[in-house]
Amino acid sequence: MTASILEDFKVYGETDIGWDENTPPNETVDDNGNLKPSGGFSQHDPNSPSRRVYDDPEVVALREKLRQNNGISGLEICEPHELERIIRIFRRDGFVVVRNLLDEDQLMRFREGSARVLKDILSIPGFGKRKYLTETGRLPHRYSYGTASSSRHLMHDPVWASMIDLPTTTPILTALMGTDDYFVTGGGGDLCLPGAIEYQKLHSDVYDRQDQGDERLAYARECGLIKVDPDKLFDELDFRTQRLVFDRTPPLVTINFMMSDLTWENGPIRQIPGTHTAMQNPPSPGEEPDWMRWSTLVGAQAGAGVFRDNRAWHGATPNLSREIRALPNIEYVPGWSGKDHFLKSMPYEIWETLTPHGKKICRYIREEPGVWPEGAGVMHPLARERKKYRGQNKSISFFSAKDL
Ligand SMILES: [Fe+2]
Repeated sequence: MTASILEDFKVYGETDIGWDENTPPNETVDDNGNLKPSGGFSQHDPNSPSRRVYDDPEVVALREKLRQNNGISGLEICEPHELERIIRIFRRDGFVVVRNLLDEDQLMRFREGSARVLKDILSIPGFGKRKYLTETGRLPHRYSYGTASSSRHLMHDPVWASMIDLPTTTPILTALMGTDDYFVTGGGGDLCLPGAIEYQKLHSDVYDRQDQGDERLAYARECGLIKVDPDKLFDELDFRTQRLVFDRTPPLVTINFMMSDLTWENGPIRQIPGTHTAMQNPPSPGEEPDWMRWSTLVGAQAGAGVFRDNRAWHGATPNLSREIRALPNIEYVPGWSGKDHFLKSMPYEIWETLTPHGKKICRYIREEPGVWPEGAGVMHPLARERKKYRGQNKSISFFSAKDL
């Protein structure tokens, strides 16, 4: 790839980035960059076109299928002030799309940051004739701003930090959580280049252990998330009510912001409504029905965001366009969750620039004055290289919302 392409590209509009025909479909690599078999988040898509070429007949055929079918029919998109509607949809579906979260300046700032960090990732050349180095454990042309960072977050970046507490998002988060006493655990986000022809498997980001029943019940009562007999302990509730306590207390809520309009062609994320409370696993790529493959957020526009209960089944879809699809995110956890799995990913000097509410909700990810967070700012597709900068802090959050 020529340097000029990397200098000029944007995460919206047409670009020459992507569509590397020298990267075979479903080719994935391990920590060291060696080819690895199907598995994990790099589980192969058995229905993928056989060549990563824009006008290949199989790509053209898939593009036509997407043009005809892609997108949730009647997707509800809310305005930021519609709090009751937002809560109702979020509890029902496990996600809700809200438009106009970012004003023009915020959108341009996030677009600049998204392109700048992606440039760091793509500046490392691929093996052989490949244009790009595929990220460890992911399908080709797909990257995570979080996992590609040695610190696993971008909380050291002023752009990401500036999106933590917005006039549009904080009232919504407060309504969904039932209180403003929640916490930021980090932020990064997901992106795919044009030519990401494979479907990523459906998955949940968090494994809800369905424990801490008494803590979650107390939280749900106090925050008004559930009406239940005030004298009963969790174990004394009937099974349906116990289930409802868990349903109403998601362990993690993430906002992904759209840097471009999500279209039928550019890799809109897919979300399967109602699966945030499912205990069974989602179908494998080979078993996934077409209706789930088309269950995507087509119609969400740049500056919108999707609030996700990270338990809900979701996955990335083919980007057959010529536009990068970037979804930077911020990740929030409720007050009942334990505090011992937070990584110190935010420099104190960044924390000082936050709003009073932002400072409060970021206090557990803040480093000490003068201490640079381990690995912050080191972007590399290969886990082997990232680990070199992460020697002391062994604890990794059990949350992994960065792998959308
Ligand atoms: Fe995910």
